[in-house]
Amino acid sequence: MNIQSKHTADAETVEEGLAIQEAQDKQFTDEMATETAMQNTLLTPRFYTTDFDELDAIDVSSVREDWDKLIAQMLADPNKGHFKKNEDWDQIDWDGMEPELKKEFIDFLISSCTAEFSGCVLYKEMKRRGNNQDITQLFQLMARDEARHAGFINDALREAGLRVNLGFLTQAKKYTYFRPKFIYYATYLSEKIGYARYITIYRHLEANPEHRFHPIFKWFREWCNDEFSHGEAFALLMKTDPKLTSGINVYWIKFFLTAVYATMYVRDHQRPAFHKALGVDPDWYAHEVFTKTSKLSEQIFPITLDIDHPRWQPTLVKLHRANVDIAKAKEQGGVGGKLRQISASARAAACFLSLMFIPSKSHKVPESVRMEPVY
Ligand SMILES: [Fe+2]
Ligand SMILES: [Fe+2]
Repeated sequence: MNIQSKHTADAETVEEGLAIQEAQDKQFTDEMATETAMQNTLLTPRFYTTDFDELDAIDVSSVREDWDKLIAQMLADPNKGHFKKNEDWDQIDWDGMEPELKKEFIDFLISSCTAEFSGCVLYKEMKRRGNNQDITQLFQLMARDEARHAGFINDALREAGLRVNLGFLTQAKKYTYFRPKFIYYATYLSEKIGYARYITIYRHLEANPEHRFHPIFKWFREWCNDEFSHGEAFALLMKTDPKLTSGINVYWIKFFLTAVYATMYVRDHQRPAFHKALGVDPDWYAHEVFTKTSKLSEQIFPITLDIDHPRWQPTLVKLHRANVDIAKAKEQGGVGGKLRQISASARAAACFLSLMFIPSKSHKVPESVRMEPVY
């Protein structure tokens, strides 16, 4: 295989996809992009590790029929070759872009790329450590997709003179250990909310193409279909063990739903120029994405958050303000900054608790979990 002449979009395995990117890294490495991706704050994407033996012990025979269908669909690989520039890729005048927008958009690309890569690393590791045929096959296929996604974002970044050095990230990033069940909740949700986010932007720009300020959004439909399948896989994995979605674990599900929604809200509100350029009100967007994600997650979770509760939206606004204050206090530094940081952090924690204590909505989970992307 001649790595230099191949594109990540055509890579059939995660190993190949990563080798191509490593070869590109040798030609082009920018420290700034990697450094941004290295910032290990609460809100930036994290890298995870887990108990791989426990994951490897999963028996999928109770969901065999749905499982085989999903794997067959992923093996057919409808998106092979999709994630690369073609004649639909418009030239971008990066130097002419409004500076605030440029900054926020690059931040968006770098954090998306890191998130894709974080999924890729976890899935690849699972494939490497496992012996269970079903599990290793699934994780190999998902890692393949994430490597392509990360590669494509790096293509876009390269035009702005940046790239995320993936090999360096793997070695230097801190890894957070999560028990397998927490990996299921967090990863399932991040795949489904990823789908909901990308499809909402895609549909919005389909109706308002004058707001499509960068060509990458044209690729979002196929992109989010990949994420949709990944979410389906985790729904099936959870379905194999009813304990994962009942009893005390329902509280954990509520915790993860709240954390994932609140994090999205806060992070998106840090990018006002980006959303303005897209012609999207971030409050509308958040509500739209929460609504879709809640609808989807009913396939496996017995509860959804009450996002129309009178306390929900005002508390998110307060949480966002507390986060802005934390960032300002950090910048200020010194004893005064430290004290202000502690007080703002306490406010953020209180907001999170308040969100957690909004009663959730219960419902009956369907027999079969499988769904098709309909938005
Ligand atoms: Fe992805
Ligand atoms: Fe994914």
